[in-house]
Amino acid sequence: MATRALLLVRGARLVTAGGSFAADLAAHDGRFVHVGPVGSFDGVADATLDADGLTALPGLVDVHAHFREPGVHAHKGTYASESRAAAAGGVTCVLTMPNTNPFTNTVAQLEVVRECARRSVIDYGFHFMADGDNLAEMLAVRNVAAHKLYLNETTGITSPLADEARLRGLLATGLPFMAHAEGDTLNMLLAAHAQWGTGPLHIGHVALAREVEALRRARAAGQWVTAEASPHHLFLDETDAARLGPLGDMRPTLKTADDVTALWAGIADGTIDAVATDHAPHLLSDKQRVPAPPGVPGIQTMLPLLLDAAAAGRLSLADIARLTSRAPAAIFGLQGKGAVRVGQDADLVLVDPSAESTITNADQLTMPGWTPFDGRRVRGTVLRTLRRGEWIWADGAIQGEAGGVEVVVGR
Ligand code: DOR
Ligand code: ZN
Repeated sequence: MATRALLLVRGARLVTAGGSFAADLAAHDGRFVHVGPVGSFDGVADATLDADGLTALPGLVDVHAHFREPGVHAHKGTYASESRAAAAGGVTCVLTMPNTNPFTNTVAQLEVVRECARRSVIDYGFHFMADGDNLAEMLAVRNVAAHKLYLNETTGITSPLADEARLRGLLATGLPFMAHAEGDTLNMLLAAHAQWGTGPLHIGHVALAREVEALRRARAAGQWVTAEASPHHLFLDETDAARLGPLGDMRPTLKTADDVTALWAGIADGTIDAVATDHAPHLLSDKQRVPAPPGVPGIQTMLPLLLDAAAAGRLSLADIARLTSRAPAAIFGLQGKGAVRVGQDADLVLVDPSAESTITNADQLTMPGWTPFDGRRVRGTVLRTLRRGEWIWADGAIQGEAGGVEVVVGR
């Protein structure tokens, strides 16, 4: 019997972590039912998009974003608003952070978060707060990607977890952890994990050359640790911080040009597995206060910036697929995500890698409506985003309402 598809995307050059070819990509009931060379789909499709001349990448999986719901900071960004910015940036699945106010540190509070997340246009999962006093909640909670350790001060974190005994107790549980740990604190954490850890540890937003080096050593020693870098640390440095003022302030702060070079080297040699946004919406009015809260939006601009870097020869499109989709999905065991393959979720982004555009505040769909990259010319434009077989971004506009679902964490 002929394969039936609701959608056929015909002729795009599919780039995955493994290579590229001109493809027929068919989706039905949210999943890929056919992935093959152009012309190979001989089934029946309800709708066909001629994507000749375009490039298809797997939908991006952003494993580090701050959506501010629920709680007192919801005016900075909601699942509805920030997921739309994500869709416009080719992101089809997001993992959100627990430093909401109140924290997401109890099973009951995660249920409140889940209610908000139903308004997301992209798929989503959650990181849970490991605050040092909520181990029973951590053990009881279901389907979270990781337990977040905040070991440095940042938005909402005034007394970071600095107690080695409590850290030891947590790491010995074997639960998956993700950490905000900068500089010496990262060294302390890696040593603690090497000694007591029995589960995986993921390091957020690596920014310093010496952090890359510490991770390189840990991995060479066989430690179960993975790491990500954020676009602002890859595409901005301390000279931008001086220019941008509070709009260039985040934790970790922007570093030196040498640190940026070391980050790219860490990406090239695999020390850094993934790129994740650390999307942290704050309104311009928040940023005008003294002291201004750290953090910058980034979920809509990650892919254009990476495409521009690819156009400049800094990495390949296959590297982008690996860093933003395959690796992040694999690190957290996100079922159905990270690969364009029959049976996987039909998540795609269609881009024109050579179309130039300018990143502007006016085009940002995030609640704050600004970006530290305002005015930046980039080569590479996000044209369409497909989430489980449905277009959610096309022709410069969000398509449809909500529709995102919680991803299953299966590791
Ligand atoms: O700059 C940051 N902003 N770094 C973080 O770790 C948190 C984030 C936020 O929530 O605003
Ligand atoms: Zn963060």
